[in-house]
Amino acid sequence: MDKFIVESGVALKGIVRISGSKNAALPIMAACLLTEESCRIKDVPALADINTMAEILRSLGAIVERDKDDLLIEAKTIKSTIAEYRLVSTMRGSFCVLGPLLARCKTARVAYPGGCSIGVRPVDLHIKGLEAIGAKINIQKGYVVAEARKLVGTHLFLGGLFGSSVLATANVMTAAVLASGKTVIESAACEPEVEDLGNFLNKMGARIKGHGTPRIEIIGVEKLRGAEHQIIPDRIEAATFMIAALITNGNIEINNVIPEHLIAVTEVLSQAGGDIVVSANSIKISLKNKIKAVSTVALPYPGFPTDVQAQIMSLMTVADGMCVVTDKIFPDRFLHLAELLRMGAHIQKEGSSAMIHGVNSLSGAEVMASDLRASACLVLAGLVAKGRTTINRIYHLDRGYENLDLKLQKLGAKIKRIKTNC
Ligand code: EPZ
Repeated sequence: MDKFIVESGVALKGIVRISGSKNAALPIMAACLLTEESCRIKDVPALADINTMAEILRSLGAIVERDKDDLLIEAKTIKSTIAEYRLVSTMRGSFCVLGPLLARCKTARVAYPGGCSIGVRPVDLHIKGLEAIGAKINIQKGYVVAEARKLVGTHLFLGGLFGSSVLATANVMTAAVLASGKTVIESAACEPEVEDLGNFLNKMGARIKGHGTPRIEIIGVEKLRGAEHQIIPDRIEAATFMIAALITNGNIEINNVIPEHLIAVTEVLSQAGGDIVVSANSIKISLKNKIKAVSTVALPYPGFPTDVQAQIMSLMTVADGMCVVTDKIFPDRFLHLAELLRMGAHIQKEGSSAMIHGVNSLSGAEVMASDLRASACLVLAGLVAKGRTTINRIYHLDRGYENLDLKLQKLGAKIKRIKTNC
């Protein structure tokens, strides 16, 4: 398993281009199952999770080929409606093939996705939403088995105990587009990745309105056609680089961003001492003077993203003052906390919150990545910790960040990947 060696002492400077969004690409790749015609998805990042989704689509009968930054996907015939455990268990996001398979084949058998290091990850909302439009669903031998003689539009509420669900919204959207009649999804997820999915489906001939808002209206159609689509930039990667600029007291220009997708992040980082200049599709960021402690709560979009919670925690460990970071979406998403303590951070966990007292400096250590965003948090901490930080199990990072080490090196960071065979 590869690891990173990170040294501190460099203020990042220069320009970085953000890759296409993993979390937009995954449901859009799955949506290509809805048509027998070919689709071209542009600016798809080269990531482990994307490769896993491609493998799942191939196992179902689709052709998936990479053409530089694009993916060509053609599901002319579906030869299987089973998304196997060996693949789904490695990447929870693959559960979003359920809706398209059900809509196209009226049957689907998708492995019940396991939990992960950020929480239990139930799928009750996915099941509730699909049953509402006529699916018969049961759990058999660890698989979600869905059958539907006919999918019929309805008016449904998709909010859960922790607010809206991104991939449950995606699954219901991609099933309802081929249902008969009108479907209205109340309390739908508003994340930009859901909006991007809706835009792609409309290019395929779907009739969707309100995607990106809590109320999505879908008029079912008979058939969908192939389409071309450019994936939106990855707002989580952009937020990670914004924090990298502040934690190293650097000054960087981040290109290929949609600033409106980063309003909550920009607000918090401005309060934390960032000097942030926003233009049409780029953000320039530097530190005014010192990092200030700012309390943050991770909420559904447009709130502060839970996928940036670990990264902001790194920044707050070296801020001036005390703050509280709370995650209302994944209350257990704090495995990175133990590793930050090993680097000398002062943090106390209390339920779904962490109280952080800023310290003058962290100290480099050997640490363990536990999930995608926790890995990014440890890289950020390593960029500012005195001495050397070794981050093990960096495969977590390769799932969701395209060439993070190379992009950081171009900004001057002292980070290198050590390939190991074990
Ligand atoms: C998506 O996961 C993202 N993954 C996650 O990013 C992201 O953290 C999450 O949305 C929240 O923004 C992809 O898009 C591939 P949810 P998803 O359903 O859809 C609860 C990353 O690092 N819930 O929006 O699986 C759930 O437990 C990943 O890139 C139910 O209760 O998340 C959570 O508390 C990590 N029942 C809340 O809703 C359900 O049926 C939001 O989860 C489904 C979810």
